[in-house]
Order: sequence, then C-alpha cells, then structure tokens
Amino acid sequence: MTYKGISTPRIAILGNGGRESAFIQALLTDPQVETIFVFEANAGFVTEPRVVNVPLSGGRATDVVEFCLKNKVTLAITSSEQIQADGVGDKLTAAGIVVFGASQRATLIESDKAWSRAFMEKLGLPQPQHFKFSNPAKAIKAAHQNPQLRVVKATGLASGKGVIVCETAEEVEAAIKTIMEDKKFGAAGETILLEERLGWNDAQAEEISVMFYTDGHRLFPLPLAQDYKREFDYDQGKNTGGMGTHTARQILSRAEQQFVQTEIAQKLIDALRTDDRLFVGILYVGLMKTSDTRHNPHGLFIIEINSRGGDPETVVQLAGQSHTHFAQFLLACGQGDASGVKPPIFDKAEYVDVVLCAPAYPDGKSQGEVIVGLSPTVAEKRGEVQIIHAGTRFINGRTVTHGGRILNVVGKGQTRDHARKAAYQRIKKITFDGQRPKYRLDIGDRKSS
Ligand code: AMP
Ligand code: GLY
Repeated sequence: MTYKGISTPRIAILGNGGRESAFIQALLTDPQVETIFVFEANAGFVTEPRVVNVPLSGGRATDVVEFCLKNKVTLAITSSEQIQADGVGDKLTAAGIVVFGASQRATLIESDKAWSRAFMEKLGLPQPQHFKFSNPAKAIKAAHQNPQLRVVKATGLASGKGVIVCETAEEVEAAIKTIMEDKKFGAAGETILLEERLGWNDAQAEEISVMFYTDGHRLFPLPLAQDYKREFDYDQGKNTGGMGTHTARQILSRAEQQFVQTEIAQKLIDALRTDDRLFVGILYVGLMKTSDTRHNPHGLFIIEINSRGGDPETVVQLAGQSHTHFAQFLLACGQGDASGVKPPIFDKAEYVDVVLCAPAYPDGKSQGEVIVGLSPTVAEKRGEVQIIHAGTRFINGRTVTHGGRILNVVGKGQTRDHARKAAYQRIKKITFDGQRPKYRLDIGDRKSS
C-alpha cells in the first residue's frame, strides 16, 4: 500500500526517551514499516530487527539530513522540543523528507513561553494573569505588589524544569534570582514570566494533559492523561520532566473535552496556520481545571502549550493505541492532509506508568549502572505490564543506565488500581547496580481523579 507515492516507510526517529520508545512500539505494530532508524537508540529494541541504532546525535542537523537521504528515509519523527526548536525538522523538510513534528516556527508556541502567552492572549484563550520581565528588580517589585503572582517561569526551554511555584513573595524573589542572576537555566531564563498561581487553595483543582495528533488543520484526540511533575510523593519537591503518569479518561466531561478541542486547540492551530506556522505533529494542551469560572463555565485555564507529545504521558496513551497503518497516518499528517486516513483508536483499559530514575534526578543523571530484572515476567507475557526504556544503553551485552529518567514501568488494568498494582509489583524486581531505583510511590493514587 502506498500513501501519496510513498510505500513501505523507512522511518527516522530523532530522540531516544520514553516517548520515542512508545512511538517505536506503536510503529512496530504496522506491518508496512520496513525500518526504524533511531539516533542514539536506547536499549529497548536491541533484539528487534526492524529497529536500527544510528550512532549519531539526532540534534546535529547536517548529519541527520545526510544520513536520512543516504538511507532513503521517507518519514522523520521529531518529537523533542529542543530538536524542533533547533530547526532539525525544517532542514529535513527542505531536503524533501516528510516530517511529523512541529517546525521551528510552530515550536515557538512552546519554546518561548512569553510569545506563546501573548499569541494566546490575542485569541482570547483562557489563561492566568501573566507578566513578562527582563529586569529582575522590576519582577521582584511586581511580586511584592501582587500577591497572586507566585509562579516564576524561564521563558525558554529548560527540559520541563524551568517553572518554580512559590508561596511567598520572598520565595518568588529567590526564584527570580536563581533564574535570572544565577542563570540556573542559562539563556532560557534571560526573560521570565511571572504568573498568577492557579488552583491555589482550591481543593477541586486538577491538572490535565490533553493531546491531539494534527495535520495542521484537523485534530485527532489521544486519551486524557495526568502527569506527576514533582520529584516526591504527593507533589512535593522540585519540578521534573515527569515522574509518572496515567490515563484519566473520566477527568473531563464530554462537554469539557469538546470545549478544549474546539475553543482552545482548534483555534490555536488555525491561528498558527494563518500566521504561517502550520503546526504538524502532536499538540499538547496542559490545563488546570479549577473552581474559578472567570473565563469559562468549566473553570479551565491553559498552563502551557507544548509542541510535542508529553513525556511520559505519551507512554500510557500509546500503550492502548491500535492502528495497523500508523505510519501512513503520520505520513499523512506530515504532508498536511490526514482527511483521507483513519486516525488511531484506543482501548478502554487504564494504564499507569511509574518512571524509574537516577538517584540524582532531576538535578543529575546516572551512567553505566547495570540494570537487572528486565527479563519478561508472566505479567508481561500476559500483556499486563510493559517496560518502556528511556535513559538506557546496550553496552558490552548489558543494559545500563544512561540518563535521568531510565525506565517506564507501565501497568494495564480494568481499573486504575489494578494497573497501578501491576506496575508496582513489577518494579520490585528491578535494580540499578544492585540498588533500588528512585521512583514515586503514589503514581495513580491521586484521590480526586
Ligand atoms: P510547565 O513546565 O509550564 O508545565 O509547568 C510545570 C508545572 O508548574 C505545571 O505542571 C504546574 O503544576 C505548575 N504551573 C505552571 N504554571 C502554573 C500556574 N500559572 N499556576 C499554578 N501552577 C502552575
Ligand atoms: N510531561 C510533561 C511534558 O512533557 O512537558
């Protein structure tokens, strides 16, 4: 079967975390997929003949384009915000390769949080109060004057860690200094946003990750998910890239989901397209649902927009996806017209993903620690558990740690509780250099969701 002249897709994946492993797993269910080239692949697919490790960095555009042309790649997937913001996808597009992933211009919706807020403001989308500063003294003054402004954000890319949520003006002051003077996030923190803290003392407040595949015109929803962003149990500690996630189908009503799709996501991709920023790939709308109905009766506010799938959310979303022609769907999205191709469908099971990390994560990484306990168990053979690799490498015949977030252990069940138990049961067998990995114990245990 061919799609617009392209047959037996040869795919390149730029990125090697849990999200990309989830994509690879989903693509392997498509019999048309001939080869998946993964730049600096993790250890997850070493025994899979269709997955080929390319020992080149996916961030180096010239090498990537040369490799893809030489190896007749027909579809490239750029799923990390840094690679998108660096314009690697744009260079592949210019070389005639179909890209599923936001272009550099479209990625601005994530890579510059201040630009993104201003763009959404013009569209009248529901947002918290926000102010941009490039002068720390002015920002500190504003925080002392307005007791709502308790969230400090580096406006550039900071691997999901550039947001500091505070209680007091003094904490805000310290956060501003950390970002703007100590330059904790480098150039990403040269300007900051000070935002109203949403959901503060609001027992109803919930965060929700809503994602859509898009061809730049149409939206195809993925299952709702929730992310656990803080380092420690019950949302304590620093923000991380994500310590765990689960599907959360019931968290928004149909009317609320419709509102997010038509009144937020569709307006956004239409406006981006009109602004010559056709958005192709996965659009991520990070929301807080509150009891504050000042913008809409649902109490929904946009916390952030990302130009790619969430990591780890994509892991649970794709775990329940089926599509025998997934590559064709991505190709169609990448070509800006998926109107003639069936979108993926999703099963009704619940999935809970616990991320196993390096002890020093989110500030540090691990390297070379031998991972034990990965041989498939009965639960894996029955499909109740999956292990999705993130920061791992296969070196000298052994799987070792290589990063901050190392493995995703995903449980599946009729209920979230079943899924959760399956994941935690499986984790017991896994060690890094004989030590227990670092992970949260409360994934899937948010009382309200
Ligand atoms: P982000 O990197 O933008 O997803 O922000 C990381 C986390 O900070 C979010 O998941 C929220 O928990 C929190 N956060 C960001 N913006 C706000 C806000 N305006 N009010 C309350 N919490 C926020
Ligand atoms: N898990 C949140 C993100 O990918 O930004």
